[in-house]
Amino acid sequence: MNPVAEREARVVMQTYGRFAVTFVRGEGSWLEDTDGNRYLDCLGGLAVVAVGHGNRRVADAACEQLSTLVHVSNLFYTTPMVDLAERLVGLSGLDRVFFSNDGATTNEAAIKLARRWSQSRRGPDAYQIVSLDGSFHGRTLAALAATGQPAKQATFRPLPAGFVQVPAGDLEAMSAAVGADTAAVLVETIQGEGGVVPLSPEYLQGLRKLCDDRGVLLIVDDVQAGIGRTGTWFSWQSLGFVPDIATVAKALANGLPVGACLASDRVAAAFEPGDHATTFGGGPVVCRAALAVLDEIEERDLLANCRARSDQLRAGLESVAGVVEVRGRGLLLAAVLDAAVAADVVVTALSDHGLVVNAVRPDAVRFAPPLSISADETDEAVRRFAAAVAAVRGTHPSTSSTVSEPGAGKTSS
Ligand SMILES: Cc1ncc(COP(=O)(O)O)c(C=O)c1O
Repeated sequence: MNPVAEREARVVMQTYGRFAVTFVRGEGSWLEDTDGNRYLDCLGGLAVVAVGHGNRRVADAACEQLSTLVHVSNLFYTTPMVDLAERLVGLSGLDRVFFSNDGATTNEAAIKLARRWSQSRRGPDAYQIVSLDGSFHGRTLAALAATGQPAKQATFRPLPAGFVQVPAGDLEAMSAAVGADTAAVLVETIQGEGGVVPLSPEYLQGLRKLCDDRGVLLIVDDVQAGIGRTGTWFSWQSLGFVPDIATVAKALANGLPVGACLASDRVAAAFEPGDHATTFGGGPVVCRAALAVLDEIEERDLLANCRARSDQLRAGLESVAGVVEVRGRGLLLAAVLDAAVAADVVVTALSDHGLVVNAVRPDAVRFAPPLSISADETDEAVRRFAAAVAAVRGTHPSTSSTVSEPGAGKTSS
């Protein structure tokens, strides 16, 4: 057994099912384990590592800040936070930012802001958040209450009141659910954890109109799809609508914990001093790292790379025997298999072909590589995936070349 796994099993709460590999370093799109095996990372730490592992610019920015000033609390001003807020406002078209620490705490901020705005206008009963079946908004109690996955909620009842879910893609169901007690509609543009299921632009634009007509807020949870992952800075920017509130986290600092809740001026004004706070949110180190991520995406034109590699990856995956559909946008894609063998494919890809991906449904494998992945690496990812699918299905890979040797990793179990 992996010696680190043995130690982990003794001292860490057993909330995760982990793969039997221990990674020790990363560079660009590649990871290396304790035995020196190399893996092509097409998961990016769950859609986090946007500008590649070991990114020099991000490391330098964070290190410089680490030895200058790490923390003073939100009782004082710090410049990196304001620099980052200005950048996010400029890129998003929204007006104001509240910084938090991860996806769940950022969604908590969004929910509290929506309630505050709505209740201050329409009275104490206007607090409900309507979200979608199949959604995922995080594991804190309110974010979990908004998450449309009953299996994840079941063992933690009672959940906070004021949350209801309706079927995704069904405007009539949403229209019926939005009433006098509704504060906001909360959606992802692509349900990432729910299986990489994109919502159509027409549906999202319909939600925008419905929210406007009924005087309720539209919140986009862009925690997974934001910061370039779909080929635009924020996922809604290619979908023909603008939310009132949006949340981002994962990719913002390339792996350091930070989240940002963005809102229009008219909504953000509902928060008054003392309404919401966090000890760590918006600290100088993570903000410097995030600024470096944004610089890196801009200067290396990684949005264009994301779009080009997305087309290439989609076409490649569609050509793999056993893949019946490729869905998603940008570099958040799922290859849907003709059988419920995604878990086997993922383990085989990892242990025999040095490819890191994960299963989002019994028949669907998620790809969320760094936005900096190269054309050659994208072809290589498809070859390795095809080989893993073929091994599980007991056939030969459908793509022309076989898995290349360097980096074809073994797990260290
Ligand atoms: C859309 C979305 N929202 C929220 C979260 C929760 O983020 P975190 O795990 O950083 O709390 C996730 C995590 O996967 C997510 O995909």
